[in-house]
Amino acid sequence: MENYLKAVQVTDKVWWVGAIDWNLREFHGYRTARGTTYNAYLVLADKITLIDTVKAPFKDEMMQRVASVIGDPAKIDYIVSNHAEMDHSGALPAVMAEVKPEKVFASTMGVKALDAHFRIGSALTAVKTGEVISLGNMSMTFVETRMLHWPDSMISYIPEQKILFSQDGFGMHLATEKLFADENDAAVVEQEMRKYYANILLLYAPQTLKLLEDLPKLNLAIDVIAPDHGPLWRRSLLGRPMDYYAKWAAQKPEKRAVVVYSTMWHSTEKMAVAITDGIRSTGAAVKMMSLEAHTRSDVAAAVMCAGALVVGSPTLNNQMYPAVADVLCYLKGLRPKNVLAAGFGSFGWSGEAVAQIYEQFAAMKLESAVEGLKIKYVPTDADLKNCFDYGVKIGEKILAAN
Ligand code: FEO
Repeated sequence: MENYLKAVQVTDKVWWVGAIDWNLREFHGYRTARGTTYNAYLVLADKITLIDTVKAPFKDEMMQRVASVIGDPAKIDYIVSNHAEMDHSGALPAVMAEVKPEKVFASTMGVKALDAHFRIGSALTAVKTGEVISLGNMSMTFVETRMLHWPDSMISYIPEQKILFSQDGFGMHLATEKLFADENDAAVVEQEMRKYYANILLLYAPQTLKLLEDLPKLNLAIDVIAPDHGPLWRRSLLGRPMDYYAKWAAQKPEKRAVVVYSTMWHSTEKMAVAITDGIRSTGAAVKMMSLEAHTRSDVAAAVMCAGALVVGSPTLNNQMYPAVADVLCYLKGLRPKNVLAAGFGSFGWSGEAVAQIYEQFAAMKLESAVEGLKIKYVPTDADLKNCFDYGVKIGEKILAAN
């Protein structure tokens, strides 16, 4: 096959050799509206080193990009696997079989995880935080970042190129032909990075804060941060991803609410509209999100750092609506903090949904802003005035919170 796919130069000795997955829309429950990239990097040191691989179906694409730089991929001496999740390791067994590298490095937990995936543990070399390996004319050091976001996760650093390979950290699901964040639309970059943090890393906010505290102590001179998804960070934007993470991990509540609901015959929707307007009337910001129009991943991104989460559901067969159960289950796993909670809904005769929503709030350890609000069948004008006032109470609580 003609080799037409090219690598992209990152530094004088580091090349991007990954793959762009333009049409990915589903990533284990996370709706990836703008696709993604699987970034792999080729380091032209004396020991030619491949940092991470790609999702299995993209292996040939990666190998073509490798070949565009070094001709024969068998020249690769070392492979470093920073993260065992299969969007980065899926191609690893096939690449190892083809290239026969001298060594493949992973964290201690990475060796175990890769062995459990592919039964290749005996071919791997474990490295620990602070360990330095020689690449001949360059070196590489490692920092294990356990539970950011898997037990095996680690980041690697080459001082001679001033480049930090941060695996999923500081990344985003964004398919783009432009390699660097500063070449892309700033608003899109922030939106997708925010969405990525909310959907993948929010539950590990304490580990994020610890890493942000520990990284500067290592005094790493960094010109480029090279994540495993989306664009790379450099120049004037180099500090941007750390600033974003510090803000999002702190989860300081903003003066805004997110009203999330599903509706059966539009009664719960009418309540949502009135509650949203009530919140708005206080001066607090508010976003109303129907689960027919918004994905659970959009909701997760909106809820992160919100002042209040207001959830509405009809009762169907004595249960909350399936779409509402879905989003609450998803949010519970992501563990948003410092968000006031409220629930509402229309019902016909039994009306269990609102109590069930509050049970989920309790399981999420979210403080209730107000008691739940239920309305029978179709809201009257007086009912809608109650909903508006309910929104006012929520808005006032948001504004009063620190
Ligand atoms: Fe991009 Fe956790 O894998």
